Amino acid sequence: MSSIRTNYERWYEGDGYYWGTEPAKFLDELIALCSPSGDKKVLDIGCGEGKDAVYMAAKGYAVTAFDLTENGIRKTLLLARDRGVDIKAYVDDINTFETDDQFDIIYSSGTIQYLFEENKKPFFDKLERITKKNGIVFFNVFVDKPFLELPPDWDKEEKMWKPGELFSYLTAWKFHRIDETIFEDDSNGIPHYHCMDTIICEKLI
Ligand SMILES: C[S@@+](CC[C@H](N)C(=O)[O-])C[C@H]1O[C@@H](n2cnc3c(N)ncnc32)[C@H](O)[C@@H]1O
Repeated sequence: MSSIRTNYERWYEGDGYYWGTEPAKFLDELIALCSPSGDKKVLDIGCGEGKDAVYMAAKGYAVTAFDLTENGIRKTLLLARDRGVDIKAYVDDINTFETDDQFDIIYSSGTIQYLFEENKKPFFDKLERITKKNGIVFFNVFVDKPFLELPPDWDKEEKMWKPGELFSYLTAWKFHRIDETIFEDDSNGIPHYHCMDTIICEKLI
């Protein structure tokens, strides 16, 4: 049996960028809530091949990013070099990562469904510790809907969350966005649908 835990290790092997190099649209929403002035720190959890982490670094944030894949981190560092920005990027696991730092923005797109069930609460407790006061957190997660098939590129350790489950964490924070959307995707070349829950929230105290 392969010791490689995610299919993304293979999908990120080539020169092309599996997710492209254009940043996600919602990053500008985060920038509007927490501008890059004054040494602001960003953590990107599950950064893939780095399109979003590198965009945030180019905007002036001090960016730390990790992903489980060596190929993802190699390409994140390559993209940062090509764009002429500094970034701290390394291989780590969302289930076990540790940091002594505190961040102004913690961002994770399409990755928290890799948290093992028993690590969900410890993960959100950790977030309380590593987010600065007035820090902003962005998460989105794939959720299970009985009328949608499992996506064709569903990964070995991914587990769908229950609709609304994400909204039950960080409830003492201020929610700037809380929504659920269904959208079409053609990653892996096969058109399919996802349902995704999203939160943007701010730690006020
Ligand atoms: C859907 S992709 C999203 C990548 C990136 N955030 C983006 O939007 O382009 C999910 C990412 O989670 C990473 N991943 C899988 N298991 C992980 C784990 N246990 N810890 C950290 N990252 C993981 C994969 O390698 C992949 O890059």
